[in-house]
Amino acid sequence: MNYKESAQYIKERMGNIEPKIAIVLGSGLGVLSEDIQNKTVIKYQDIPNFPISTVAGHAGELIIGTLENIPIIAMNGRFHYYEGYDLKEATLPIRVFKLLGIEELILTNASGGINTDYKPGDFMIIKDHLSFFAESVLRGKNDDEFGVRFPDMSQTYNKERIEKLEKIIRKHTGVAHVGVYAYMKGPTFETPAEIRALRILGADAVGMSTVPEAVVANHCGIKISAISCITNMAAGILDRKLSHEEVNETADKVKLTFKEIIKDYVKEL
Ligand code: HPA
Repeated sequence: MNYKESAQYIKERMGNIEPKIAIVLGSGLGVLSEDIQNKTVIKYQDIPNFPISTVAGHAGELIIGTLENIPIIAMNGRFHYYEGYDLKEATLPIRVFKLLGIEELILTNASGGINTDYKPGDFMIIKDHLSFFAESVLRGKNDDEFGVRFPDMSQTYNKERIEKLEKIIRKHTGVAHVGVYAYMKGPTFETPAEIRALRILGADAVGMSTVPEAVVANHCGIKISAISCITNMAAGILDRKLSHEEVNETADKVKLTFKEIIKDYVKEL
């Protein structure tokens, strides 16, 4: 993969903004882009080697600018395995960020709540993940320029950052969960039996993104924070079907709070 070519293209368009923080905007959080100042917007389709987002409602652009006067780069729209990309393609932006000098990655997503103490609209800070049922994004020849062959995964989600986020989320909503995110490949929602199994395995929430990006970022030494919006109770918990509309509806209800949380957080990094 020609990460350098993609990085060069972006660098030439960043002006005098030199971000150390990258934010991946998950479902519904696109509104954050409204608050980014001094903006440069680059469409994914214009960046050499970038895949193009295919999900309706997911934009496909990189936004470089300042948030609360802090230089950032944001992905408005991400790439998912279920869209058909291979994982290396889907996570290409993370390595491009590394080449651009990014040191901090904030991942956001929507997920289904497995922990029955959680409610739709709550936020969960990811403290760890399960990824048993998906191949590793790092499978294949190791790219030594980015990291080691057998990366440690015991401190992928940074403890200090979890504590900072907990305070901020609690300030905004009264409740901040800290839990384990189970990564499933999608695009089907899980079966009730899968959700019961994931609960036994220790999962608090389930979703179809974030983990490949976190694995690649951890491999190349970028610090990670990840925040999940619980948009629905996972399959089988309530006696009704799941839908993408339900996910979008909840994400839409809490998007302004989510935005304020991220704005407060970047000031503390
Ligand atoms: N399962 C998987 N992904 C999700 C869910 C879910 O219940 N909700 C939002 N993203």
